Amino acid sequence: MKFQSSGVSVFCIFLAVASSQDGSVVSGFVSQPSLRTAQRSPIATDIGPRTSSTSPSPTQLSIIASRHRLKDLEWTKPEEHQVTEWLKNYGEVSRFYRRDVFTADDWVRSRRPTRFWDTLRNTFRSGLFRQISLELGVLMACSFGVVLFNRLNWMGLIGRSLPVLKMPLVPFNLAAASLGLLLTFRTNVSYQRWNEARTAWGRVINDSRSLARMACIWSTSYNASPQLIKRFGDAICSFSRSLMNRTLPSQEDDAPFQLYCLKQLNGGYNGDYGTRLLHAKHRPTAALAELSSLLVQFNFHPLHQIEMEKMITELCSSMGACERIFTSPVPTFYPRHTTRFLAVWLYLMPFALFEPLGGGFLLVPVMTLLGGFMLGIEELANQMEEPFSILPMEKMCQNSIRGPVMEQVERSTASVVENKEDSTTDTKPNYTMNASDYYVPKTSDNKPSALMPETLRVNGSTDSAAPKINGARGPDRETLKKFSFEI
Ligand SMILES: *[C@@H]1O[C@H](CO)[C@@H](O)[C@H](O)[C@H]1NC(C)=O
Ligand SMILES: *[C@@H]1O[C@H](CO)[C@@H](O)[C@H](O)[C@H]1NC(C)=O
Ligand SMILES: *[C@@H]1O[C@H](CO)[C@@H](O)[C@H](O)[C@H]1NC(C)=O
Ligand SMILES: *[C@@H]1O[C@H](CO)[C@@H](O)[C@H](O)[C@H]1NC(C)=O
Ligand SMILES: *[C@@H]1O[C@H](CO)[C@@H](O)[C@H](O)[C@H]1NC(C)=O
Repeated sequence: MKFQSSGVSVFCIFLAVASSQDGSVVSGFVSQPSLRTAQRSPIATDIGPRTSSTSPSPTQLSIIASRHRLKDLEWTKPEEHQVTEWLKNYGEVSRFYRRDVFTADDWVRSRRPTRFWDTLRNTFRSGLFRQISLELGVLMACSFGVVLFNRLNWMGLIGRSLPVLKMPLVPFNLAAASLGLLLTFRTNVSYQRWNEARTAWGRVINDSRSLARMACIWSTSYNASPQLIKRFGDAICSFSRSLMNRTLPSQEDDAPFQLYCLKQLNGGYNGDYGTRLLHAKHRPTAALAELSSLLVQFNFHPLHQIEMEKMITELCSSMGACERIFTSPVPTFYPRHTTRFLAVWLYLMPFALFEPLGGGFLLVPVMTLLGGFMLGIEELANQMEEPFSILPMEKMCQNSIRGPVMEQVERSTASVVENKEDSTTDTKPNYTMNASDYYVPKTSDNKPSALMPETLRVNGSTDSAAPKINGARGPDRETLKKFSFEI
């Protein structure tokens, strides 16, 4: 009987402390009485009967809202200086380094025999543990305080004999099941969001490549100008780049995106496209509009045009998927409830474990481990909830989209030139898709085409077959690397 009453009083103290920290923490408990008084108040009774027939007027609604401080529920935009401050902490900075792309070698490393011990050795350098260090510290202090108080109390050093600080373990066991459910759901949902974001980006990648392939291959039969093909290639790449800009913190992507637009997109065959993209309100849509308008200029057969327009629409829906995930968090009351449940469960646990653990200081390490793992689950779900800043978007834009797309563009601008020169001598175009032929612009007299960059030009050799560089046909890997464009 005695320990139960002391447990209840501890619970009340906890709630009081919590409510003084954050008004909304215990709004569920605090607002109950005020709700009841509101119903008894003249305004409430005035509205009461009428709601059955007509809904309350906007003024009445606003009175109710202000009475219950509903404004507090509204999501407010954080101040910019706050965001700048938060962006400096370990968790945020480390997200930049978590954008992994695995290769075969990385998989081999992740299966290495020492993986287990390496991971264990690094436990205290883990980012997750750094993130929850404050919560863990408070938990340790709490457990230490409980043991110390009870020991001093036993030894009679406190003076008057006070009740022992302890609680029964049964309620915690009962609550553990619901807590597990809440945490499981939270991690599941966060992982789903990550996976969905990755899938949407996967669709952006394969649609970009398909679009480039269709435009480049078909345009050779329509004798499109190489400029047009290059503009189309740049427009494809600019879409994914703008999509990335949309979901990164503006502090991170502000300067790189400006540089990309003004230095790389502007000028030459692109005209002022870079400036237009930079000043567009919604940049990915502007890039899609550019794609569609370029598509019209190709003068493709309507069937081809429809096929490509479908791809552009696909890009638009992938963008929609990304924006849906980005702008809609898990309804904010869900994570808040999980956090409060976990906090109450965890911070009252030392009282319950005091007796089963023999009343010694063993309680402190036990609570630290338990707390570390429980808080860690919650924290990792929280970190994964916004997946874009841990997705390797730069690498996808650069290596998976820009690389292949521009390669295709170069390949077919070369073949377009070949087509044109062939048509002057009235012969059929002969561009065979031989992989080792891709980079060798074949003109009628085996002269390098004017369009190819200097590094790729091949001197007309006496050898009537294709010229050789490094013994093989076509340029070597080093030369090809120069083709990768910076974003
Ligand atoms: C594109 O690739 C993703 C995987 O990255 C796949 O899930 C998706 O179905 C592909 N899209 C199309 C249109 O084939
Ligand atoms: C995107 O780039 C622009 C221009 O550099 C920048 O102002 C903006 O903050 C970036 N991010 C977002 C989300 O708009
Ligand atoms: C194209 O070139 C290949 C060899 O390079 C030749 O065998 C083939 O007959 C040519 N096709 C046409 C249509 O000229
Ligand atoms: C492609 O080029 C290689 C090397 O010159 C040649 O051996 C092969 O027959 C070619 N393939 C086709 C389909 O023309
Ligand atoms: C092509 O010839 C020029 C001189 O005519 C020479 O300077 C250049 O290195 C040659 N390029 C290649 C790739 O052989």
